Amino acid sequence: MKTINIAIDGPSGAGKSSISRAVAADLGFIHVDTGAMYRAVGLYAIRHDCLSPEKLAPVVEDIAIDLKFIGGAQRVLLDGEDVSDHIRTPEVSMAASVVSAIPEVRAHLLDLQKKMAAENNILMDGRDIGSVILPHADLKIFLTASAEERASRRYLELREKPDCPPYEEILKDIQQRDYNDTHREIAPLRQAEDAVLVDTSNMGFHEVVDHIKALIQEKLD
Ligand code: DC
Repeated sequence: MKTINIAIDGPSGAGKSSISRAVAADLGFIHVDTGAMYRAVGLYAIRHDCLSPEKLAPVVEDIAIDLKFIGGAQRVLLDGEDVSDHIRTPEVSMAASVVSAIPEVRAHLLDLQKKMAAENNILMDGRDIGSVILPHADLKIFLTASAEERASRRYLELREKPDCPPYEEILKDIQQRDYNDTHREIAPLRQAEDAVLVDTSNMGFHEVVDHIKALIQEKLD
């Protein structure tokens, strides 16, 4: 059976995961958040003190990353342990950014991602989905917003928390991650030639969800 594959790429903080989750739930697709897989590898590297290509590359094949879906929500397992609630810290974000530039890590996750797409109707989000993982996706979307807009959304999310960083620091962090993602040698973030650009700088959450659902519907009709 041919499965339906939708690729959503874009920079950090563009809302890829929350938007993909909502669209997938409405359409009955599985949502695969590939960033969570890199985060799980980052957590492994922190725990095992092997956050460098020299230390991580030789052991990468032994790291078991699995996804399971509970009520449609993705959980990520690291060596059998559900680490979904441990991978959202700034420390793990930085580790994920480091490990995602290691070719052996990308090769290890690529097989798993391709297999999931071959077996399920999925909406997969990440950085290289349209360009590398699913070059024949039924639809590719490049979801973005200006760095300032992404920083101010993040600031609004965090501002009630006691350790909320200043806006300028959030903006700097986003700019640094954009630089890392677009300048790494392997599978850098870029818009695939046949991807549809969706700039959400001036759009609300539901507007973006409806727009993407309409793009998918149009493609499948
Ligand atoms: O989307 P995120 O912030 O959860 O991603 C975590 C890190 O993994 C981020 O530095 C980008 C990287 N990543 C990647 O290189 N390729 C993907 N397909 C997904 C994420």
